[in-house]
Amino acid sequence: MTKNVMVTGGNRGIGLEIVRAFAQKGYKVLLACREEEKGEAAKKDIVGGDVHVVEMPLNNEQGIIDPYVRAEAVYGPIDVLINNAGELDDTKWQSLNTMSLTRSLQVNTFAPFTLIQQALPSMIERGYGRVVNMSSGWGSFHQGMEGPTAYAVSKAALNALTVNLANTIPKDVDVTINAACPGWVHTRMGGSDAPTSPKEGADTAIWLATHDANGPNGKFFRERKEIGW
Ligand SMILES: NC(=O)c1ccc[n+]([C@@H]2O[C@H](COP(=O)([O-])OP(=O)(O)OC[C@H]3O[C@@H](n4cnc5c(N)ncnc54)[C@H](OP(=O)(O)O)[C@@H]3O)[C@@H](O)[C@H]2O)c1
Repeated sequence: MTKNVMVTGGNRGIGLEIVRAFAQKGYKVLLACREEEKGEAAKKDIVGGDVHVVEMPLNNEQGIIDPYVRAEAVYGPIDVLINNAGELDDTKWQSLNTMSLTRSLQVNTFAPFTLIQQALPSMIERGYGRVVNMSSGWGSFHQGMEGPTAYAVSKAALNALTVNLANTIPKDVDVTINAACPGWVHTRMGGSDAPTSPKEGADTAIWLATHDANGPNGKFFRERKEIGW
């Protein structure tokens, strides 16, 4: 049966490549994005496939839940959730205020949490689900937490969320939650000096979202290899 995948930040960068890949694989793809127009414009870039735009600004909880519930009512339950959208605030900590820090946490941590809270119970009930959180080495303790403060802290919290929620999944269902680091990718966020293409950056998340039963759960990967938190 056709699986439904929702990809946040699906209108550009790595997210658009994830959308393209799932469309080619025959999934029903819900391209979630901040503004519908941008999503529709991006969709024109996808050849074929069953792609639907869902306007979903990630700025507050209800603004995420309402379109999510509407989308499930129209397209059916989400089998695969890719929390790809992200905000990079590179303000130095000395100038950072808590409002900006909260904005980064909202997009990079709280929005993925809200979406997982919507999707996970039904995945567990139906016995199948894949959640992939797009994280970053800049939010990794293992790699020294070297990113700008708001970004590093919000991605580290996303990593913590990944492990914490993965630990709650019953062992007898084929449901997993993992995190992916795409590497340094040539997108608006990564800049033009980045050596990795968006397609290459999308690969690990797609791999995690399509693994067979008994695949990894609660782990962090880059280039399909497990990395430290
Ligand atoms: N590029 C890299 O080198 C790199 C490295 C490590 C991790 N990552 C992670 O990979 C993911 C994708 O990054 P990317 O490089 O593809 O970035 P990108 O090209 O800048 O795209 C970011 C996406 O997130 C969306 N977004 C941001 N804030 C949003 C909000 N408030 N509501 C809804 N959507 C919002 C953007 O929507 P709009 O188009 O409307 O702005 C856009 O679709 C991010 O989580 C990022 O942290 C990237």
